[in-house]
Order: sequence, then structure tokens, then C-alpha cells
Amino acid sequence: MRFELFICPKCKENLFQKGGSLICRNNHCYDIAKEGYVNLMLANDKHSLNPGDNDDMVASRDMFLNQNHYSNLVKSVSDVISKYKKTILLDAGCGTGYYTSIIKKNIENACVYGIDISKKAVKVAAKKDKDISFAVSSVFATPLKDNTFDAIISIFSPLAFDEFDRVLREDGIVVCVYPGEKHLIELKKIIYGDETILNDKSVSSDKFKSVEKLSVQGYMDLDNDDIFNLVRMTPYFYTTPKEKLDNLNCVSTLSIQYDFIIEVLKKN
Ligand SMILES: C[S@@+](CC[C@H](N)C(=O)[O-])C[C@H]1O[C@@H](n2cnc3c(N)ncnc32)[C@H](O)[C@@H]1O
Ligand SMILES: [Zn+2]
Repeated sequence: MRFELFICPKCKENLFQKGGSLICRNNHCYDIAKEGYVNLMLANDKHSLNPGDNDDMVASRDMFLNQNHYSNLVKSVSDVISKYKKTILLDAGCGTGYYTSIIKKNIENACVYGIDISKKAVKVAAKKDKDISFAVSSVFATPLKDNTFDAIISIFSPLAFDEFDRVLREDGIVVCVYPGEKHLIELKKIIYGDETILNDKSVSSDKFKSVEKLSVQGYMDLDNDDIFNLVRMTPYFYTTPKEKLDNLNCVSTLSIQYDFIIEVLKKN
């Protein structure tokens, strides 16, 4: 049943669907939005009124990803999940649900959940696939049952290893995706010149050990709209001086490298 793995964020009791709401035995009630997601974010867990990616970032991310420039990545992540024979999946920090919905289609009989702290992103995600159970929630306080998932997917999103450990089954895997050194290097060179920002190269946790690391690399040909969306979907857009971003104005097309690392972790 949809939503059955969610728990009440207030009292941690199971939630049951009653009409258009999820309700626990202590009568805490959460409405299912018309788009088909549920907001399980408590005001106390929010550090701002609208946490996570803002509306412009979400719109740019959606437009960029929908062009399928990262289709090799989603195929490789799906292949990893198939290889480990995992079907109960959580996309933690699912954003606009691009990867979530394609992975659901690629994995036979998959039961898929997606959470993100950005309400706007979850709204977009929920419209893509009505069979995925989406909620607004932080990955650091996940309203999900213990020992339930057999894979947690984290693509460019915050890693909450304590919560991953709690909701993952003993033989479960975490599939993390993060940028390799060459990711978007041509774009960064245009913006930053030689003081290019290097990406962080690995994940670490005392609760998990790395069991496999794969690299997904290639080139994508981007037009000016793609470049604009790609830049606007990252926090760099907000931290980079305008005169550096202006270096992109005269670029009409660009061949850019993508360089992803997929790391598979298991419990220690
Ligand atoms: C770089 S985006 C990646 C989104 C998606 N995985 C993708 O690749 O399209 C990072 C996402 O993490 C979300 N996020 C940030 N902090 C979070 C938190 N504490 N809990 C859940 N999601 C969070 C943001 O709202 C954003 O959607
Ligand atoms: Zn409750």
C-alpha cells in the first residue's frame, strides 16, 4: 500500500490512510496534497521557512534534467540496484524526482519512496509518478519505519548516515552519487578561470563501509539554455560574483564533461 512505510513524525507511530489524509493512533493528521505527496516536515525541523532548493533552482534542475543529459548516470544507478537485487528503494534528497521516476521504471516490481526537504521539489516530483510515495521531510529526521529499505539512493544530496542505518535492512545498500574531479570542468574554467573548485572525492561513515566504486564519465553538448539551467540549479550561482557568471553570456554552445562517482556502501 502507498505511504505504508511512513511513520508519524511527531510520535513515531504507524500512519494509516483515511480518505485524503494519513493519520496515526494519536490523531496526528497529515493531508495528502492534490499532487499526491504528503508533508511530514515538522516546523521544529525547519531552519528556514522554505528549506532546501528554492523555486528557481527547482525549475532550472527540472528543465536541465528533463533534457536527459544525465541519462547514462541514471542507467548506471539502475544497473547497480538491479545487480544487488534491491527493490524497496528510498531516494533520499530526491529533488524533482527525475532519477526516482526513471529508476522506478527500470527496476521491475520496485516499491519506491522519495523524500526531500524542498516542498517545491517534492511537488514537481509527485506529478511525475503517482506510484511513488513522496514526502516533504529532512533526511536527518526521516519519518520512515526502522529496518525497511533495501537500498537508499543519494544523488548529490546530504548524507544522513545515522538515519540511513536506522531505516536500512541489515543487508541493505546505500548508493551515493557525487561529482568526480572532471565534473563540469570546462564550465568551471570559464566561470572561475584557473582557480577551479575541486570536488570532494569520497564519502565516509563509521556505520558503513565502501564495497564498490564506479565512475560514469562522458561529454554532453549544451546550448545556452542548458548552460543557464545547469548553473542556476547549483548553489554556485548564489555564491559566485556576477562578473564571473557574466563570462558565460557569450557562450552559445559548449561540450562539457560529466564525471560522476557511484559509491556503494554496506553496513559495517
Ligand atoms: C543537488 S540537489 C539533488 C536532487 C536530486 N537528487 C537530483 O540529483 O536531481 C540536493 C537536494 O537535497 C535537498 N536537501 C537539502 N537538504 C536536505 C535535507 N536536510 N533533507 C532532505 N533533502 C535535503 C535539496 O532540496 C535538493 O533537492
Ligand atoms: Zn502521531
